[in-house]
Amino acid sequence: MADLIVALDVPTRNDVIATLNTLGDSVDFYKIGLELFTAEGPDIVKIVKDAGKRVFLDLKLHDIPRTVERAVASGARLGVDLMTIHSTGGKAMIRAAAESAAAFGAAAPKILAVTALTSLDQSDLTDLGISREMPAHVEAMGLLAVTQGADGIVCSPKEVANMKRVLTAAAGGRQVVLVTPGVRPAGADVGDQKRVATPSGAVRDGSTHLVVGRPILAAADPVAAARAIRAEMDAAAV
Ligand code: C5P
Repeated sequence: MADLIVALDVPTRNDVIATLNTLGDSVDFYKIGLELFTAEGPDIVKIVKDAGKRVFLDLKLHDIPRTVERAVASGARLGVDLMTIHSTGGKAMIRAAAESAAAFGAAAPKILAVTALTSLDQSDLTDLGISREMPAHVEAMGLLAVTQGADGIVCSPKEVANMKRVLTAAAGGRQVVLVTPGVRPAGADVGDQKRVATPSGAVRDGSTHLVVGRPILAAADPVAAARAIRAEMDAAAV
């Protein structure tokens, strides 16, 4: 069964507490990103964990292997469930992250790789000296991550069916974690997302975790919005 993760795209601890209170038991998994973590520090993870929720710590780590290894261990000690790194940190960095997480046994966070930021286009790749086409680059970065021990990737719901096929073949029997933002219920405001899919479409295509922000946080009734998305996901999984 796929998980629903609500993106805590809010600036302060008070906003987090208000969101947790509003959504109550309709949501049990939250994403904490750079803005919130930089403002509030690790205490914000503790607040969400103490509310009994799971945490996706989305800091997109990219540094030398030893630093990433230690940052992953710090995240694991906070009890986070998912963490992100950049594939472009290279083999040794990816392996360091995966091995650092694995040392925590059953409490290990899953390590997810960002293949290519969705803000990049082909001309950005050229600027970086990368000559292959974007889809081939995304596939190669996903394969690099999974073969070096990452648990999965973050990808667009439009890419997830293909990436599931490609990465599952490379994962040697491990289940690949496929986290997709860019999810919009049918008829919802798309906002600045360009390549969206519905919750049921994302689940059918193999997403294991859906990250949703504004369709829940900006809804007139956030609990009803969260429950409707959950119901659509569950129906698609049958
Ligand atoms: O409000 P919305 O549902 O668009 O929020 C989606 C969340 O997923 C945001 O936190 C956004 O930063 C994140 N995200 C994304 N697209 C990516 C990577 C992350 O929308 N490619």
